[in-house]
Amino acid sequence: MREITLHILDIAANSISAGARNIFISIIGNHKDDTLEITISDDGKGMTPEMVAIVTDPFTTTRTERNVGLGIPLLKAAAEACNGWFNISSELGKGTKVQVGFQLSHIDRMPLGDVPSTLLGLLIGTPEVHWTFRVKNDEKEFYFDDTELKRELGGDCLSEPEVIRYVRELFTEEIDALALN
Ligand SMILES: Nc1ncnc2c1ncn2[C@@H]1O[C@H](COP(=O)(O)OP(=O)(O)OP(=O)(O)O)[C@@H](O)[C@H]1O
Ligand SMILES: [Mg+2]
Repeated sequence: MREITLHILDIAANSISAGARNIFISIIGNHKDDTLEITISDDGKGMTPEMVAIVTDPFTTTRTERNVGLGIPLLKAAAEACNGWFNISSELGKGTKVQVGFQLSHIDRMPLGDVPSTLLGLLIGTPEVHWTFRVKNDEKEFYFDDTELKRELGGDCLSEPEVIRYVRELFTEEIDALALN
């Protein structure tokens, strides 16, 4: 994949498929440490330790009774190719947390991509999920929790063009101002 946001979409799609009611996404750039850290955590159905081992490394497993995809291994490989790291923790019935780090300045690091559109797409596409987003670049931070919006405008407000326009402008303005690429 050519952009980190495409990986974020893939990992978030896993959370949605796992039946998560709450999904948190954070994207944190830190120039002092030269890191870009992404976290996606959910309260979906979770996985057993055996399952976690298989999804992280599908090529080294001898197990064949189920098909595993490539979303997680591809993200892990992308991070490790950039002097980064990958961690997944999961508990059956509780949820899953995927954390990945890239060396921010690494020559092979993919660009982030369009963060405002990616987050907006998730928010609009799965309104039944409670979304929380944090995007941070050094000391500057944008935090968004959809609770208030849905409480004040109604749970289905994200199907209304004016609301979508408002959130798009908010995300674009706030996230562009962070100048995180
Ligand atoms: N957040 C999650 N909660 C529960 N199970 C998960 C989660 N993320 C991944 N899984 C399990 O791990 C499997 C592998 O995930 P992965 O993203 O690598 O591939 P995939 O989603 O099956 O296929 P794709 O290549 O389309 O992403 C999933 O099919 C699912 O069973
Ligand atoms: Mg997937």
